[in-house]
Amino acid sequence: MASARLKYLSLGVLVFQTTSLVLTMRYSRTLQAEGPRYLASSAVVVAEVMKILACVLLVFKEHSYSIRALNSILRQEILHKPIETLKLAIPSGIYTLQNNLLYVALSNLDAATYQVTYQLKILTTALFSVSMLGRRLGVYQWLSLLVLMAGVALVQWPSESAATPEKEARSAGSQFVGVTAVLVACCSSGFAGVYFEKILKESKQSVWVRNIQLGMFGLVFGLFGMLAYDGERVRESGMFQGYNTITWTVVALQALGGLVIAAVIKYADNILKGFATSLSIILSTLISYFLLQDFDPSSVFFLGAVLVIAATFLYGYEGKPPANPSRA
Ligand code: C5P
Repeated sequence: MASARLKYLSLGVLVFQTTSLVLTMRYSRTLQAEGPRYLASSAVVVAEVMKILACVLLVFKEHSYSIRALNSILRQEILHKPIETLKLAIPSGIYTLQNNLLYVALSNLDAATYQVTYQLKILTTALFSVSMLGRRLGVYQWLSLLVLMAGVALVQWPSESAATPEKEARSAGSQFVGVTAVLVACCSSGFAGVYFEKILKESKQSVWVRNIQLGMFGLVFGLFGMLAYDGERVRESGMFQGYNTITWTVVALQALGGLVIAAVIKYADNILKGFATSLSIILSTLISYFLLQDFDPSSVFFLGAVLVIAATFLYGYEGKPPANPSRA
């Protein structure tokens, strides 16, 4: 009973988190505020710190709030098992790249186009699950992947209604950069997700300890990334330049995302994660259209979005293998 509650709670929080992250991030990157804009590379680092702190608190809670138990579990599982810990460097490096790409994508694409295109990660996750976990897909699942690709292609179709001079200027170079960033993120999401799933399934380690290991590398990679891309600017005005309430909200939502995804993998499964993401696409499309007014959907876009969402459900239709759920 309790675990069923946690399952739906984690999925509900995932819908809320995905929708609010996309919208807030898009808003924060396009907001014309005074002074310098915040550095995306710094936001990635701060989110990682928050995530590690939250996971340490969760492990602390798991061990009845005993500092000694916390200390010993962290030493035993992280310091004394360097090989196990090092395995997490791979998904961590990839997620760091992905988390940075996400900002590039959302600085160049509207929230809805970004999110629908990013659904292609279902395809990459499926392909990596087949090749790395030896998973088998049914006919409906392969079919749903074809529908998915058709849907994403339609969403990207240039529409006549979008051809205002302002939008044309934005859509020329920006659209290409944004879409490329999303496509690379799709590959990294699929690979890192399946790799993380493989590691989780190969041991009985607490998912929060795994997340601390992942976050530690994420922090190191993120810091390197920040110094490499924005080192000059950080030295001039500090890593918190341009931070405002919206920035802190984005960072907190990003940190929450890491926790929720881990919880969804633990209490629900990855197919349900796909459903939750699809629901959040519908929500962010509606909000992007009605509230932010930064998106003027054509009928081709709607058709594409419907196909993408239908594909997700079709994938889940036959996709509940008893022992081996995938991260779709
Ligand atoms: O889009 P996708 O599902 O690949 O996004 C995964 C996100 O969740 C990434 O931002 C990654 O850093 C984060 N994550 C995490 N902890 C995990 C798994 C993913 O923080 N255990």
